[in-house]
Amino acid sequence: MPVTTIPFTDRIIAPSLLAADFSRIADEVGRARQAGADWLHLDVMDGDFVDNISFGPAIVQAVHDCGPMFLDVHLMIRRPDHYLSRFIAAGSDLVSVHVEAAHDVAETLRRIREAGCLAGLALNPATPLDECLPYLGQIDLLLCMTVVPGFGGQPFMPEVLAKIEAAARLRSERGLAFHIEVDGGIDAVTAARCAAAGANVMVAGSSTFRAADMAGAIANIRRA
Ligand code: DX5
Ligand code: ZN
Repeated sequence: MPVTTIPFTDRIIAPSLLAADFSRIADEVGRARQAGADWLHLDVMDGDFVDNISFGPAIVQAVHDCGPMFLDVHLMIRRPDHYLSRFIAAGSDLVSVHVEAAHDVAETLRRIREAGCLAGLALNPATPLDECLPYLGQIDLLLCMTVVPGFGGQPFMPEVLAKIEAAARLRSERGLAFHIEVDGGIDAVTAARCAAAGANVMVAGSSTFRAADMAGAIANIRRA
């Protein structure tokens, strides 16, 4: 189902490949699919915008070639505008760019949609929602980071909950239509708190890929 027709009350679970076993990527993608993942979240890090390097368009393409799966690509890179077309060509379904990165945010979001992808806007825990206000009318998803980006396995930051609530309030006041995604330290317990605040897209790395029972972990996040 296209994301734009999914109600904001429906929960979407997006395991983050960053927590997968990189030596057997195709098997891991299959495992996520079998376990009931709705989307796959792909964390792209450039060693500049964040203090870590993950992977680039070639890996996004390889995951795309593993078979049908909605690819939620999170660009934690300084110049998303420069690399955007390569990630779109690699098979991204949704591309999120950071409001703090060095680019013309409105123009990058416009280009994402023009290419037929869904547009996401991400913000770090310390960034006020105000910085995203000019762009809320041109996004399909607002990605509220619930950890400082760069690494998986960090603890959830509850202070972001107020921002999620404010974003959900603004959405209904202004009649806007974007999903609210949370990313970092999400498990069944923190997902329930985020859902209560207004988020419906749950990115979860460690708590899904590293769980003994991935299907059970995803089901728990879905009904928490
Ligand atoms: C953090 C990444 C996250 C990360 C989440 O920089 O954006 O997507 O993979 O990992 P967990 O769920 O382990 O916190
Ligand atoms: Zn992410």
